Parts: sequence; C-alpha cells; structure tokens
Amino acid sequence: MTEPTHKRGLWATRMGFIMAASGSAVGLGNVWKFPYITGQNGGGAFVLVYLICIAVVGLPIMLSEFTLGRKTNLNPVGAFRQLKPGTPWVGIGFTGVLAGFLILSFYGVVGGWTLAYVYKALTHSLDQFANPADAGKFFGGFIANTGEVLFYHALFMGVTIAIVIKGVHAGIEKACDILMPTLVVMLVILMIRALTLDGAMEGLKFYLYPDFSKLSGHSILMAMGQAFFSLSLGMGAMITYGSYLPAKENLTSATLYVVLFDTLIALLMGLVIFPAVFAMGLKPTEGPGLVFSVLPAVFTGMPMGWVVSIIFFVLLAIAALTSAISLLEVVVAYFIDQRGWDRKKAVLTMGLIIFAIGIPSGLSFGVLADFKLFGRHFFDSVDNLTANYLLPIGGMLTAIFVGWVWGTKEAHKEIERHETTFHWAAYWEFVVRYIAPVAVAIVFFAKYFPAK
Ligand code: PFF
Repeated sequence: MTEPTHKRGLWATRMGFIMAASGSAVGLGNVWKFPYITGQNGGGAFVLVYLICIAVVGLPIMLSEFTLGRKTNLNPVGAFRQLKPGTPWVGIGFTGVLAGFLILSFYGVVGGWTLAYVYKALTHSLDQFANPADAGKFFGGFIANTGEVLFYHALFMGVTIAIVIKGVHAGIEKACDILMPTLVVMLVILMIRALTLDGAMEGLKFYLYPDFSKLSGHSILMAMGQAFFSLSLGMGAMITYGSYLPAKENLTSATLYVVLFDTLIALLMGLVIFPAVFAMGLKPTEGPGLVFSVLPAVFTGMPMGWVVSIIFFVLLAIAALTSAISLLEVVVAYFIDQRGWDRKKAVLTMGLIIFAIGIPSGLSFGVLADFKLFGRHFFDSVDNLTANYLLPIGGMLTAIFVGWVWGTKEAHKEIERHETTFHWAAYWEFVVRYIAPVAVAIVFFAKYFPAK
C-alpha cells in the first residue's frame, strides 16, 4: 500500500480544531442518549459515575488518540502501521475504519429523523399533542414510513457528503466554527425556558441529587460505555482529527477543552430535559423515544412551544451532523492516505456505499421490522456490533498500544514536542497503562453481567 504522497489539509486555527473535535464528540450521544439513559438509571448518582468515567477513561484515551494522530499525520490504519510496521497492531486501525463505516450507516438514519423533525416542527406538526402517547404514536408512524425515512436519510447523508468533500479547512472546520457555538446558545435558551416552568425543581432534584440506592453494577457499566461513545473514542476519529494538527499545538489543553465541552453539553441537555419532563408530570424512564416522542408533547404544553420545538430539533440535527462528518472523515482519510484516492472520489464513493448499507437500518422500524439477525432487527444489530464490540475493543487496544507497545515515553515526547509542558503526565501515564485498559475491558464484558 502507498504511503501518502500528496499534501494533506491542516486545521487553520487552534480554535477550529477544538470546535471540530468537539463537533465530533457532541452528537446524538449527548443530546438524545445521555438524557434517556440517565432517566432510566436513576438520575444524579448515574451522572456522578459518568463524570468519573470521563476523567479516568475518556481523558487519557482521547489524549492518546490525538497524540497518535499528530505524531503520524495519518489516518488510523496508517498511524498504527507507521509506528509498528509489519505487526498486527494495524488491525486496530482497520477496526476503526470499519466502525466508522458501520456507525455512520445507522447514525445517518437517526440524523435523517432529526431533519424530518425540524420540518415537522416548522410546519406545526409537533405542537398539537394532548399527551405523550399521541406524540409517541406519531413518531412510530413516521419511522415506519419508508418513503419519508429514506428521503430524510438521503438528505442527511447528502449534507454530510457535501461538507466533507470540501475538506478539512474549508468544509469541516468552517462548519463547526459556526455550528458549535450556536448549539451552546440554543441550549442555554432552552435551559432557561425549562428551568422557569412550574414544577421544574423536582426534575432538577432528580437530576442533580445523587441517590446511590438507585445505582446498580449494570448502570455503572452503562455510564462508562456512554462516556466512550459520547467522546467519539475507540475508532480513531480523534486520531484522524489529530492528524490535521500543526506540530506546535498543545495537545493536553486541547484534550481538556474537548472533554469539558462534550461534558458541558451533556450536562446542559439534562438541565433542559429533566425540568421539562417533571414539569409536565411525565416519567424520566421513557427510554429511547424520550426526545422524539415525549418532547413534542412537552412543547405542546408550553407557552411558545412552537418556537422551542424548532430550536430544539435544529439543535439536534446540528449535533448529529457534526458527528456524522467525523465518522465519514475517518473512512475517507483512509482511502486518501493509504489508497491514494482523491478526496472527491473517496467522499462520493464511500458516502454513497454507507448510505446504501444504512437503508435496511432505516427500514427496520417499518417494512423490515420482522427481518431479524440473531434476534435483533438490522438497525439494532449494527448499533450493537459497533457500540458493544468494535468501540470498546478499539479503545482498550489503543490504550494498551500507547501505554505498553509504542510506550508512554515516546508518546510523552510527542506531547511535549515544541516545548509545551505536560503538567498531568504522571496521572496520564498511570491511567493509560493500568486503569483505562482494565476499565474498558469491564465495559466490554458488561453484557455478561446480569442487568438489575
Ligand atoms: N460522539 C458521537 C455522539 O455522541 O453522538 C458519536 C460518535 C461520533 C461516536 C464519532 C464515535 C465517533 F467516532
């Protein structure tokens, strides 16, 4: 296979890189998944465990991925191959590219749902529900409608492709520079709206007051898995984004910013959802349908609900889009660096194939609902394979690779290239060698632990 021969793009500014990496991290994982699994796992205590997982697993692995990327200036396959040529470690890179490919196939479907809900919000379809059950029925009807689901899926993938085709600086960085700060502003507006509702305080208590009696072993493991998915770790997305960094960049502070930003968005999202849910007298344990079926009912009952619903679904679509961009970029970078394709060919070919593979996922709630692989429909199978197998294995092996194979000494040298002092080096070296691999192994084996 060829080594890269052509010029690769670079991030233009430090802020642009941090925005793009944050854009990858902040996605459906924060806005859609974090609130519903927090709701299902008892609230405050779960949030606390999640935060601990971010610090002991997320932080060290993210810094490891950025370091691998900047050291090699390559995609995940090229990075592992360059550092340990001719060894099986390159397999981590291939697993990552495959994970990016597969995750995007169903992520694009849910991304399509978010675009559909932007349109439905604009046309007043979402502010007319007397109760959450009606909103749930409406959502169920929508995701079973083949034509509509495929249309929005194609639209979402089309936008993702159009941005990635423009490349690192002109496309991804410019888009995230605008989209990420907009997201924060929108969330703060929604939070103020939610917190001033009657009965909001009860939601705040559920969310912030840790009741450890509600915590099971299984929910601890779920918190760790969520930390992982939410920070986009385990498949080389952060290796790829790190590979576009100029050598002078300070990796440790960039890591801290991205982790803090991702965590802030998730926490803010909880401050939007739980006060609203409790103010409406709803249950926080609604599950995956929380955002799509319960929130429209919440909006219906609010003053200015129409405006709020539009803001919310625009925000959800933005978050999904900036993550989808990073998923596609991992795949595209591999074909550009390792196979010598030009960007346009790589983006169009891979984008279209990923869209095609996503079609059965999109139809899993309608015409293909009865088509099962090992007892799961297609969407769940791909979700399960990636989130429960590929990401945890990739993350664990990345920590082992940096901690023991390439070695923390070499990594440390790379981190301190150009005279930045690595203040928390001792902490990082310890967690990346010992804590992170073990902790992630526990996540991987989570499914063998009985759920409470
Ligand atoms: N971090 C994204 C989210 O929270 O929705 C999902 C994701 C993006 C996972 C990119 C992995 C990845 F490489």
